[in-house]
Amino acid sequence: MPRLRIGLIGWGTVGSALGELIESGPLPLELESVAVRDAARERSRALPDGVRIGLPEGVDVVVELAGGVDGPLGWARETLATGLPYVTANKALLASHGDELSRLAGANRGALLASASVGGGTPMIEMVEHLAATGQIESLRGIVNATTTYILSAMGEGRSYADALRAAQEAGYAEADPSFDVEGRDAAQKLAILASVAWGRWRGESEVDSSGIVGVAVQPGETIRLVAQATRERMTVEPIQLQTSSPLAAVAGVESILEVVVAGATFRISGPGAGGRATAGAVYADLARLVAGERPILFGGAS
Ligand code: HSE
Repeated sequence: MPRLRIGLIGWGTVGSALGELIESGPLPLELESVAVRDAARERSRALPDGVRIGLPEGVDVVVELAGGVDGPLGWARETLATGLPYVTANKALLASHGDELSRLAGANRGALLASASVGGGTPMIEMVEHLAATGQIESLRGIVNATTTYILSAMGEGRSYADALRAAQEAGYAEADPSFDVEGRDAAQKLAILASVAWGRWRGESEVDSSGIVGVAVQPGETIRLVAQATRERMTVEPIQLQTSSPLAAVAGVESILEVVVAGATFRISGPGAGGRATAGAVYADLARLVAGERPILFGGAS
């Protein structure tokens, strides 16, 4: 079988873990190029030998793990306009321009995949896609931001907010700008993506009523978590006090959880919501679908 040639943009925690997986995993993949902002910078995982450094050219699929919106929007438009698959973990891009990109993929018979954009390594988008087939999803509820879980549980054990935020950053959970985590934007973007898949209509981050955890007081012993919830009509992200018996209260550390109610029955999935290796695994699973000849388009691709 011919190898799928990958043009990777971004060599951070997830990008470099993906590079390792491409090298060691079972799929017929070849890393053709890696694009980074500054090739001369010292990094914890060296750029791979024998791989061209630069933006993708003449590849079969573009994988963008760079983050931000402006650069990725241009790369995504360019890739999808030529009918090539675009694989990304970029929730900010999808929660702001997902509708346009999905239509572009649909119009050009491309593919748009983003398993790693929500839930890190946990296949939340796939579960929602599966359950959405009957058109009977009633609601979504989950904890989809590891940084705030880490901070709120540490505060419940008596630590200060600042102390807990520093520890979450050191653990590598926080976004480059942690205000995205603590102000609820990371969770709002993920919720908008899940709700778009659940009800077959793209909804952006701006439609989420969102409040973060800045200034939230947590008494020792209290279980407060940043909970994301959606129905067909409304999307909210807010700190909520949970009963200790709630499955959501059991989530700790880097774990994320999602509950989907379909015709009165609750389906639940949980697992690592962040971290290089787990998140790279989700990107790798997207690539497996392309290798198998599938051409999935997130949000349906209808024009
Ligand atoms: N900053 C995110 C989190 C990383 O804390 O969950 C994964 O999207």
